[in-house]
Amino acid sequence: MIKEIKMEREDLLKEAEFLLCDVGYEQFNKDHKELVYHMLLLKELLEKIAVKGETDEGWKTIKQIINMQVERSKVHFAAEEELMEKANFAALAEHKNEHIKIVAELTSIKKCIDDQQNIKYAHDLQSLFLSWIFQHSCNVDMEYKGKL
Ligand SMILES: [Fe+2]
Ligand SMILES: [Fe+2]
Repeated sequence: MIKEIKMEREDLLKEAEFLLCDVGYEQFNKDHKELVYHMLLLKELLEKIAVKGETDEGWKTIKQIINMQVERSKVHFAAEEELMEKANFAALAEHKNEHIKIVAELTSIKKCIDDQQNIKYAHDLQSLFLSWIFQHSCNVDMEYKGKL
């Protein structure tokens, strides 16, 4: 199933790029785009599941996307924090707290999905992450633009 939905990668990446802010660092912009892309991919998959119904294969893909998302987010946050630390960025502590909060929320929803396999949690995770990443990248991440 993942192969089938990956066909739309270019369109989804374009959509992600259009919605995000330029934080001034190529790698971080790329990370944001990938993070949004995977949530748009999950959104598409959930829409397909709503029509066609749940399958083991579908659940396998949902869990695969979510596991990758949590790991990718942690790697991205660590990279931002490392650069902010090196630059003695003044708002590092507040920024780190934002990252900690979203990782805790993602991890807790991921646990609900692993324990209960209820599609509602997959919807919750993708909508929470998408609204968070746009808000975070365009407000909090923009604060380090040009300062690292
Ligand atoms: Fe970021
Ligand atoms: Fe950040």
